[in-house]
Amino acid sequence: MDLRVDGERLLRDLADLARIGQDPAGGISRTAFSPADARAREWYRDRCAEAGLALELDGLGNMVAGRPDTSGVAAVWTGSHIDSVPRGGAFDGALGTVAALECVRRIAESGRTLRRPVRAVVFSDEEGNYGHLLGSTGMRRGFSEADLAAMTGRDGDRLVDALTGWPWAAGAPTATRREPGFLHAFVELHIEQGPTLESAGTDIGVVTSIVGLGGGLVRFSGRADHAGTTPMDARADALLAAARFIGAMPDLARRTGPASVVTTGRVHVEPGGANQVPALAEVLLDFRDPDRARVEQLEEGIARAAHEAAAAHGVTAEWEPDEIVAPVPLDDRIRDVIRASATGLGLSSVDLPSGAGHDSQNMALLVPTAMVFVPSREGRSHSPAEHTDPADVVAGADVLLATLLRLADE
Ligand code: GLV
Ligand code: MN
Ligand code: MN
Repeated sequence: MDLRVDGERLLRDLADLARIGQDPAGGISRTAFSPADARAREWYRDRCAEAGLALELDGLGNMVAGRPDTSGVAAVWTGSHIDSVPRGGAFDGALGTVAALECVRRIAESGRTLRRPVRAVVFSDEEGNYGHLLGSTGMRRGFSEADLAAMTGRDGDRLVDALTGWPWAAGAPTATRREPGFLHAFVELHIEQGPTLESAGTDIGVVTSIVGLGGGLVRFSGRADHAGTTPMDARADALLAAARFIGAMPDLARRTGPASVVTTGRVHVEPGGANQVPALAEVLLDFRDPDRARVEQLEEGIARAAHEAAAAHGVTAEWEPDEIVAPVPLDDRIRDVIRASATGLGLSSVDLPSGAGHDSQNMALLVPTAMVFVPSREGRSHSPAEHTDPADVVAGADVLLATLLRLADE
């Protein structure tokens, strides 16, 4: 059990991947199905080819790398995502992607024979530009033609257009569903994206559960009018309704539960002239709670607040909620394996829940799944400030490798 990752190679890979999608405005913009996402996939394909790993694609662009295997024995998968939020950091998703590649590569070059194949997966659009955890949701439930046709990105572009001619997908996007139990286990390494590990001085987080996710769009529709000639009381100002609605969100979260959060990350206003009363304001929402019933309460509260704000400003509101991604507990037995692997490497560990969403929450509904966290400096994430110390990166990858070796020999 003494196999370790090649730390230098892992850190070099992480630095190389971080150069792809650098945004002149700061951070990394490698959003799903963008040219930067394609360049990152080319980089990944080249690393796989160098290591003699075959790469398979599905119809939504999920990628699985490993040694060719015809044994039919249920495999162990590890991996994460290569896409980022706009102006995000260099570690979210990237760490789990390069560490998974390093583990599979290390096992291949060690010549070690394991009972089960170990494969590295890269999920498409984890950040949910087109749909929450798009690629892994495709594996969990599959999408119909109609589902896919209705999905649009934050800029209003259609998923089906983004996929047309996209070279990093193969087969039908409606044929991505996997059978429950198709793997022996799935393990994802990720940065914590919160402050717990750093403040406690703990090396490794063993994730207990992942938060439930909701989202959607509120569309306020009013009337465009002249900004100079329309009296204040004669307006149907869609943006004023949106502002009132947004202002009500912190209170809704506080009333719903101690761990409830609501975020309005984007507002789109039309027609958009300073001398025009806004006729349209679309507010994009993200809301979460560890308890599904509370995610549903937030969804109802949002609908109510939208209609109240619309009525107060003489406009109309439409609420288009996304499908809720359920909160899930992770697998107790694999968590024990992770803890034992950390202890075996002389590393401290602690149990903690995840407030961020992960593809693991879809995988957990299909196969036994667990996650390993490493510290995030000052808990910062979804920002260029994201940072994890090199020693923590390597320690996390070593815990991942030791965990995979144990699981693959079961
Ligand atoms: C993924 O990073 C999410 O939690 O939105
Ligand atoms: Mn993220
Ligand atoms: Mn992530």
